[in-house]
Amino acid sequence: MKILVTGGLGFIGSHTVVELQAKGFEVIIVDDLSNSDEAVLDGIAAISGKKPVFVKMDLREKSAVQKFFSTHNDIRGVIHFAASKAVGESVEQPLMYYENNINTLVYLLQELQAKEEASFIFSSSCTVYGQADKMPITEDAPVKVAESPYGNTKQIGEEIIRDTCAVNQQLKAIALRYFNPMGSHPSAEIGELPKGVPQNLVPFITQTGVGLREELQVFGEDYDTPDGTAIRDYIHVVDLAKAHVVALERLLENQNKTNYEVFNVGTGKGSSVMEVIESFEKVSGTKLPYKVVGRRAGDIMEAYADTTKANTELGWQAVSSLDQAMSSAWKWEQKIRS
Ligand code: NAD
Ligand code: WQD
Repeated sequence: MKILVTGGLGFIGSHTVVELQAKGFEVIIVDDLSNSDEAVLDGIAAISGKKPVFVKMDLREKSAVQKFFSTHNDIRGVIHFAASKAVGESVEQPLMYYENNINTLVYLLQELQAKEEASFIFSSSCTVYGQADKMPITEDAPVKVAESPYGNTKQIGEEIIRDTCAVNQQLKAIALRYFNPMGSHPSAEIGELPKGVPQNLVPFITQTGVGLREELQVFGEDYDTPDGTAIRDYIHVVDLAKAHVVALERLLENQNKTNYEVFNVGTGKGSSVMEVIESFEKVSGTKLPYKVVGRRAGDIMEAYADTTKANTELGWQAVSSLDQAMSSAWKWEQKIRS
């Protein structure tokens, strides 16, 4: 069964391709390489023994998207990862974010609504909850005013899918709200490859660990949390990738309850910045140079998922611990710098 994976050479997409291949799906990757490298195909092939079909294409080009679907008219499902994801950059270049994250989604849905049947998985984010009032966060927690254009693209993206599904019953969609993905495939054949200075905590830590960065800045220790540092739900990217496969299977097998559903994808466990640093020091056996600075603008105090819905409805559960995820991130960082 043919599945289109947009952004399939990126961090989460590449790991999902491997899990799809393991389940026997035939994968076609579309990616414009704006935030990835074609060499990721070799990493995927090293794990699965099969190089997926790759089409280099910018999904902002509507006519190219139309042509793609007329050529590949046997695609049964789409997992849509392709998007720009840097929060700070989105504040600087909002229109670039709205064009890339919204137009591409609209063009894909226009193709899918013309099909007799289609399944669609969307990369959403826990960012839609902002600072939720209650922990852990359930799917019915209110969506808060977005802190950034990036966050807004995820909220608007969900609304676009919901509205499109409401009038196209043959279109089935699931939005997965990821918490904080980290780590790499245990083989270290694929992993996270941020361009420039990493904005996210874990790649900044591992790059500091290999000596690429001088020290980590810990953004705030005056939060109302047990150790004063902010709390997030860090999920191993392989666990996250597997959630996509079960979500897709749910739609393909018509197990969905409505034709648009939303699931949190996290571990259910919150970890503070200090606990993440401790995990790194434990798995690497090295001390991490860091200093505490002020809070980062736009940061929230805590976010961790209530995963009951994904556990019961999808039959999916994250299995990796923070240390296992950190260990894989560290193995990957050391490999790419050696
Ligand atoms: P990534 O940047 O590693 O992967 C995205 C891929 O999409 C890249 O390979 C990029 O080249 C490609 N791409 C971007 N614009 C494109 C376009 N117009 N046409 C074709 N390809 C295009 O990012 P990721 O971390 O793997 O994230 C995947 C998805 O998950 C994104 O939608 C992101 O917003 C979402 N998400 C990520 C996180 C996270 O922390 N990594 C958290 C929540 C949600
Ligand atoms: C985690 C914690 C920081 C870097 C972002 C996006 C969100 C989602 C995931 C896509 C926070 C602290 C970080 C550093 C630090 N992406 N930190 N020093 O902020 O939860 O979310 O990525 O949808 O939309 O906003 O993740 O990894 O940036 O930060 O102290 O150098 O680590 O303050 O508490 P965040 P993160």
